[in-house]
Amino acid sequence: MSRFVNKVALVTGAASGVGRAISRKLAQEGCAVALIDRNTESLADEFEFLKSKNVKVSAHDIDLADVSQFKELIENVIKEHGQLDALFNNAGILGAGKIGELDSESFDELVAVNLKSPIFLTQAAMPFLSKTKGAIVNTSSASGTTTFPLLLTAYGTVKGGLAHFTKYAAAHGFKHSGVRANAIAPGVIRTGMTEDIYFDEEVGNLEMQKCVRNAAPVGGGIIDAEDVAATAVFLASDDAKSITGQILTIDGGRGVIPDEAFMTKLSKPYWMK
Ligand SMILES: NC(=O)c1ccc[n+]([C@@H]2O[C@H](COP(=O)([O-])OP(=O)(O)OC[C@H]3O[C@@H](n4cnc5c(N)ncnc54)[C@H](O)[C@@H]3O)[C@@H](O)[C@H]2O)c1
Repeated sequence: MSRFVNKVALVTGAASGVGRAISRKLAQEGCAVALIDRNTESLADEFEFLKSKNVKVSAHDIDLADVSQFKELIENVIKEHGQLDALFNNAGILGAGKIGELDSESFDELVAVNLKSPIFLTQAAMPFLSKTKGAIVNTSSASGTTTFPLLLTAYGTVKGGLAHFTKYAAAHGFKHSGVRANAIAPGVIRTGMTEDIYFDEEVGNLEMQKCVRNAAPVGGGIIDAEDVAATAVFLASDDAKSITGQILTIDGGRGVIPDEAFMTKLSKPYWMK
């Protein structure tokens, strides 16, 4: 497919996991990409990788917690690429914590990266996105639209805020700019973010992985970053030109089971008796 020929996308968190998969998928479809990340080394590796594939690419080493840089960032992207057709607000951190475990400082960081940064990047990008009638895709989380293990209380709440902001951005687009805004809400993806809490045997949280696996009807409950990227890129493409203000869950069906302990609470569901 080549849905993004002569188009330009900005992807945050592009040096790893979902963001890397999104920018590679966009590049495969002919898009020029501006990669944003604070991980200098991985960002440089990804820049070199895409360059070697003859992709028109730029790399911007930025800490998204500092919104004062956004205007200059967008100006640099426009200087380099001439236009902006798609904004992927994808970077995020996992600020874990149940209600009783929260501390004010790490909560502020969580809000700064996962909520404030997408809102202010949208603000900075909107004048240019409105020129191209472009699209915004926010990476929310299934933990922001359904309940997940309590460890994700703060994270899920903030991701819920991002999902809701997406609807306001879509309404703004509808009324003023023609820009579409949608969000994806993935379940558990194996990336740098989840390696410790779900997959590290020494940390001993394999129970967490088991509970997600048990409750997901499709694909074993662990989602491929490439599947998430395919959906995100679809939402930014003209194939989704009639879709705006939507939060698309990508969780292998886990969310259709309201209680993840369901399988263990009932030894046999009534239809098997
Ligand atoms: N992995 C999952 O299971 C999962 C599930 C649902 C949603 N998500 C969301 O998907 C998005 C991508 O996460 P991932 O799983 O690919 O994680 P990841 O850790 O592999 O990638 C996140 C990237 O964002 C960058 N980043 C983080 N904070 C930054 C900052 N302040 N400034 C600039 N760059 C920053 C990191 O350097 C990293 O390259 C996040 O928003 C995450 O919350 C992840």
